[in-house]
Amino acid sequence: MVVSRGYLCTKKAERIKQNFIATVSHELRTPLTSITGALSLLEKEVVGELPVNVRQMLKVAANNSQRLHLLINDLLDIEKLVSDKVHFVLKPYDLTALVKEAILMNSPLGEAQGITLSLAATLENAWVLTDKDRFLQALSNLQSNAIKYSPANGQVTMTITQPKEGVLCVAVQDQGPGIPESFQSRIFEKFAQADTSDTRKKGGTGLGLAITKQLMERMQGSIGFISEAGQGSCFWLTLPAATQVDNSV
Ligand SMILES: Nc1ncnc2c1ncn2[C@@H]1O[C@H](COP(=O)(O)OP(=O)(O)O)[C@@H](O)[C@H]1O
Ligand SMILES: [Mg+2]
Repeated sequence: MVVSRGYLCTKKAERIKQNFIATVSHELRTPLTSITGALSLLEKEVVGELPVNVRQMLKVAANNSQRLHLLINDLLDIEKLVSDKVHFVLKPYDLTALVKEAILMNSPLGEAQGITLSLAATLENAWVLTDKDRFLQALSNLQSNAIKYSPANGQVTMTITQPKEGVLCVAVQDQGPGIPESFQSRIFEKFAQADTSDTRKKGGTGLGLAITKQLMERMQGSIGFISEAGQGSCFWLTLPAATQVDNSV
């Protein structure tokens, strides 16, 4: 087989870039963890009571170090996925229980903006083959987007269906602005955001859906969406169905 010099150079450059991202992210994480820890101790006033304006400044600092954490985690995740370093342990799980767990995890985020998360419809014996932590990560990404783009006091509704034999689907419907037609073909690209000022205004970097797509495809699942501008968005994940297992023994 003849492999062109250009192809090998591109591959090498890609590898160097991935290693660079991994190293920088790791190096950033350690000092950031101690900054976050120190800020949290100050916020708890362990060094004594603080004036209101100092507490406000601490909140800004703590929120921004949290954003940096999320960004570094996303960068590390995408690097690991691209270089095939993520290990998946696929086992049968009750999809209804997983969705309920994700709702519990993300409800506090919604509550802060008056947004309610609920499971509107499910199926009996909806068992899927998946890696629990990776699936919860994927579903949480969809739920946090739905919350982020919902109007205040909006509803985010989950539904479990069986679109065809051997496949189960969980859909996340929101009442947000929807996805502009012109952006739809780029939505799963790394760093893609319909509105680039969102990084500042709403947080996030445009990596969440790229990570989610990779996670789902590595678990023999898929991701998709239906959206019309102004009509909300419905993002869905599919997974292969599995035979029910008895976890009580
Ligand atoms: N539920 C949603 N409603 C409206 N727009 C969305 C929704 N989910 C994703 N998007 C659009 O897709 C972009 C990419 O999403 P994502 O990859 O999760 O990145 P991030 O959340 O970091 O911006 C978002 O910036 C937004 O423009
Ligand atoms: Mg996101």
